[in-house]
Amino acid sequence: MPHALVTGATSGIGAAFAEHLAAAGYELTLVARDRARLDHAADVLRRQHAVRVTALAADLAVDADLARVAERAAADRLDLLVNNAGFAHPAGFLRVPVADEVRMLRVHCEAVLRLTHAALPGMNERRHGGVINVSSVWAFFPCSTYGASKAWINGFSQSLVEGRTARPGVRVMALCPGYVRTELHERSGRDTASIPRALWTDAPAVVRTALRDLARGRNVCIPGAPNKALVTLARLGGRSLAGRILRRLGSRPHVTAS
Ligand SMILES: NC(=O)c1ccc[n+]([C@@H]2O[C@H](COP(=O)([O-])OP(=O)(O)OC[C@H]3O[C@@H](n4cnc5c(N)ncnc54)[C@H](OP(=O)(O)O)[C@@H]3O)[C@@H](O)[C@H]2O)c1
Repeated sequence: MPHALVTGATSGIGAAFAEHLAAAGYELTLVARDRARLDHAADVLRRQHAVRVTALAADLAVDADLARVAERAAADRLDLLVNNAGFAHPAGFLRVPVADEVRMLRVHCEAVLRLTHAALPGMNERRHGGVINVSSVWAFFPCSTYGASKAWINGFSQSLVEGRTARPGVRVMALCPGYVRTELHERSGRDTASIPRALWTDAPAVVRTALRDLARGRNVCIPGAPNKALVTLARLGGRSLAGRILRRLGSRPHVTAS
């Protein structure tokens, strides 16, 4: 039975990964902070799909918790690691306490780095496995700490492949969704009413595209034609032009620098 570890598995994109992988027969290790919610999610998956599920309550911004999850990632013979846990801020850079900015870097960057560092040697040895690092289309735009942390994920994932740290048979991919209907926006107090419908995707569709692209050996996955077009625009016309167009479209995230 293949084994996957998914962080941020109780909601949104992470929950959709857990559901999809359980349905495909994966044994799962699920990580999130809210223990009761995590236990409930694990129970539901066990009952619905008859797979083994371990619930590992941990705050990835806390050293001891992250070390505990990294130990599991190294010890379990993982076929797939999904570094998905993440969040957005309720306000721009100078209006967010600096400790929360640092917390974002710990969850979006340090946790991704440590868990990949723990899981990859075993995958390399077995010449088999995959790592999906959940980034964002905002990695391609000037978007404060959120966009910068996601740009780090893209660079990191690319370097593991191009620098041949991931051995043949082992895949690493940055997943860059656009707007996905999850709890992230509500949790960050974001009003999403002005964002055009065409820019939204749902989490199960993102997961299907991600797993398809991982199987195809892609290093970067941008689900959805509108998101691909925006990223192309950012690459051709420069990040600030694309950022201006996005703001015109009404998508002014609380992740901008002001
Ligand atoms: N939704 C979008 O539009 C969108 C677009 C592009 C990229 N993304 C990225 O997708 C990923 C998943 O976000 P989502 O939209 O699915 O958000 P979500 O519905 O809010 O889910 C976030 C998950 O992460 C967990 N989590 C948050 N902080 C954590 C921490 N410190 N330690 C451990 N677990 C933590 C949450 O559980 P607990 O609160 O119990 O810990 C929850 O399971 C994030 O990396 C986000 O940046 C989202």
